[in-house]
Amino acid sequence: MLNKQKLALLGGPKAIDRPFVRYNPIGAEEVQAAKAVVESGVLSQFIGAWHDDFNGGPKVREFERACEAYFGVRHAITVNSWSSGLTAAIGAIGIEPGDEVIVSPWTMCASATAILHWNAIPVFADIEPDTFCLDPAAVEASITPYTKAIMAVDIFGHSANMHALMDIAARHGLKVISDTAQAPGATYHGRYAGTLAHVGGYSLNYHKHIHTGEGGILVTDDDVLAERMRMIRNHAEAVVADRGWDDLANMIGYNFRLGEIESAMGIEQLKKLAGFVGDRQRAAQRLDSGLAGLKGLRTPPVVDGCTHAYYVYAMTLDPAVLGVPRTRLLEALAAEGVQGLSGAYQNLHLLPMYQKKMAYGSKGFPWTSDICHRDVSYAKGICPVAEELNDSSYMGFAMCLHQLSDTEIDLLIEAFRKVWANLSALAEGVV
Ligand SMILES: Cc1ncc(COP(=O)(O)O)c(C=O)c1O
Repeated sequence: MLNKQKLALLGGPKAIDRPFVRYNPIGAEEVQAAKAVVESGVLSQFIGAWHDDFNGGPKVREFERACEAYFGVRHAITVNSWSSGLTAAIGAIGIEPGDEVIVSPWTMCASATAILHWNAIPVFADIEPDTFCLDPAAVEASITPYTKAIMAVDIFGHSANMHALMDIAARHGLKVISDTAQAPGATYHGRYAGTLAHVGGYSLNYHKHIHTGEGGILVTDDDVLAERMRMIRNHAEAVVADRGWDDLANMIGYNFRLGEIESAMGIEQLKKLAGFVGDRQRAAQRLDSGLAGLKGLRTPPVVDGCTHAYYVYAMTLDPAVLGVPRTRLLEALAAEGVQGLSGAYQNLHLLPMYQKKMAYGSKGFPWTSDICHRDVSYAKGICPVAEELNDSSYMGFAMCLHQLSDTEIDLLIEAFRKVWANLSALAEGVV
């Protein structure tokens, strides 16, 4: 039964009159683990020189071994953020200044900034309208003689089309980095998302499925890439000589080290990952059935062979069928008390940095320098699918913000159904 009550936006009662419970995955186990580290006094055991402690202290190592076992990879390398992880990964693949890396525009800015940090050039390729991940055909069309790698982003909790992307990479001799910040625990044809690329990994920032405040985990089966990433993590240039490491390419180190407290908490969080992902999958299924049949609304598809980790419950709208623009719909849903809903996501190519081509200093480096092989376009129009979604048809519900109970999901569904029952009233007054 559709709720025909007057919309809150038009003066009626709200469908949801309480704040949703804020997401908090931290339990007694994490508190105890953090406390034990604090009491030990050794909050980090890394040493930025070739030394027994070059790869960190006991909790860092334990967390890394636990991640290797969990994700089924040869190497897991902790970092102090996933932005750091992406930067280490791009350096480790042996990127040269001016090399091009193909990346989605529909992602958090760090996916592309990690490329620029090495004076390499992000090239934005369009996305698929269903998964919001890189469209393999657009990737292939973007390859030039200067392309070095593909940054495949598993956005919102769903894997990119990794079989197609890895096939393209193999045919063109490219590396693939999987930015799986938002999809830990999602699977792709029986393997964890993030583990199919040459390097992948996960964010541990506060909003993610499991978190340590800030942090990240790199995963790879490649022994050499793993060693390079460990070096970049910890002041590579100061280590190479004592270590006898001859290949100096990109052995410029950072301090990307994760602390012992975070690692101790990460060990506990990892044990809970499958349960948290399962909770979100159940919530999403309840939403799927509760929202089914609402005209002009498409709930998130899950591609055959994949499971979704639902960082965001990503919907699309057909404004022509709805007869109401997205802004008006969002206003109505917010007035009903729906929290965590947003319209536009990202079109990175349209950020001022790319539009003005100004990153390092004020003279357009690296785009204006000799290292850049050609005039890469960031003009509006290069990624029509991502642009159209951003301009009018995307609507996402941030599942990462709340610990949703069945009651809250049912309230959410009620709010949506109420708004949909009143679309004509909502359309009136729209000029
Ligand atoms: C897709 C994506 N990539 C990269 C990052 C950066 O991760 P971090 O915040 O851990 O640096 C995020 C963080 O939200 C993200 O969602």
